[in-house]
Amino acid sequence: MGAQFDRRGRPFRDLRISVTDRCNMRCDYCMPADVFDANHEFLPRSDLLTFEEIEEVVISLIPHGLKKVRITGGEPLLRRNLEVLIRMLSKHSLDLALTTNGLLFTSRAEALANAGLNRVTFSLDSLDPVTFERITGKSGHSIQRIIEGIEKAVTLGLSPVRINSVIRRGVNEADIERLIERFQHLPVALRFIEFMDVGNHNRWDLASVVPSEEIRKHVEERWVLQPTPSLHSGQVAQHWSLDSDTGFEVGFISSVTEPFCGDCNRARLSANGHIYTCLFATSGHDLRPVLRNPKGLETVTEQFHTIWSEREDRYSELRAQPRSPTAIYLPRVEMSYIGG
Ligand code: GTP
Ligand code: 5AD
Ligand code: SF4
Ligand code: SF4
Repeated sequence: MGAQFDRRGRPFRDLRISVTDRCNMRCDYCMPADVFDANHEFLPRSDLLTFEEIEEVVISLIPHGLKKVRITGGEPLLRRNLEVLIRMLSKHSLDLALTTNGLLFTSRAEALANAGLNRVTFSLDSLDPVTFERITGKSGHSIQRIIEGIEKAVTLGLSPVRINSVIRRGVNEADIERLIERFQHLPVALRFIEFMDVGNHNRWDLASVVPSEEIRKHVEERWVLQPTPSLHSGQVAQHWSLDSDTGFEVGFISSVTEPFCGDCNRARLSANGHIYTCLFATSGHDLRPVLRNPKGLETVTEQFHTIWSEREDRYSELRAQPRSPTAIYLPRVEMSYIGG
């Protein structure tokens, strides 16, 4: 079986695996503290796929063209013994990446690298302690801990090391320059993400989105940017190199102003075993009945074949249309549940 195509002719390539829906931060645009409070019901541990089941899904998707696996959450380092899963998945010759908020990274970094992790992406939206605390609910002292994590990832060669920053109008625009100043002497890629209307609780409005084009022009008032070629189709970010000898790059993820559904090759696996074929999906496909019944008639490979071949999602393109279909206003899954 070769790469598989959906109804819009898009091949499957990339699987994002959420290993937990919990997080040790409460970013206001992702898990606002008043919604994700002590009364919020997270997935019970008994609902989570085991590491063996996750590996089984990965093995089942390789014949469909799987090349890249990203481990996400919530915060994936909250899942106990994550290194064990990394070691299991590293046997399969895939590009194996981790997305983390960096709070727990440094002490786990060597174990993760030894287990076969290829690379890490950090989330960091502000270097200003007050703004950082306002966004994440965590003390501004954590910033230093996250920076140490980023430096450790560089030292261990978990590269390309990437830093994702969601820039919002009136919240952290001042961090565009601050982040470049802080990281330009490291071989990392700093990516500015447009604020998206993902989930149901982040009080998104178009006025808060700072378009990538605006950020790029602002950056070019101070630095010289050169476009760098894309490595393969389906990439979410456009990268530019800055006039620096470290390989530092700036990237833009413009899912609101320039939707990239046209070559979207990503599927998402929730911690409780549901496949979602779009970040904005309203429902998923439960793999557990098939996964937990190896003597059944259908295999996960066959089930996924049906799921991907019926896929039509292109939410960000529809949102951009002047008269979006009403279906896009149905309740959606949360980012913390299916991962970035
Ligand atoms: P690598 O190229 O492997 O480093 O990963 P990536 O470029 O896919 O980026 P990453 O996983 O760090 O995603 C960065 C951000 O882009 C996410 O946090 C989302 O905000 C956004 N993003 C990623 N995938 C999608 C997608 O399929 N649709 C939309 N609308 N946004 C996405
Ligand atoms: N819009 C854009 N990016 C988001 N992320 C989480 N919620 C949103 C949103 N509403 C990003 C985080 C992190 C990644 C996992 O997803 O900042 O970098
Ligand atoms: Fe913030 Fe990431 Fe946690 Fe969401 S999952 S609250 S973006 S750290
Ligand atoms: Fe892919 Fe859905 Fe994002 Fe479009 S909105 S790029 S289809 S995940």
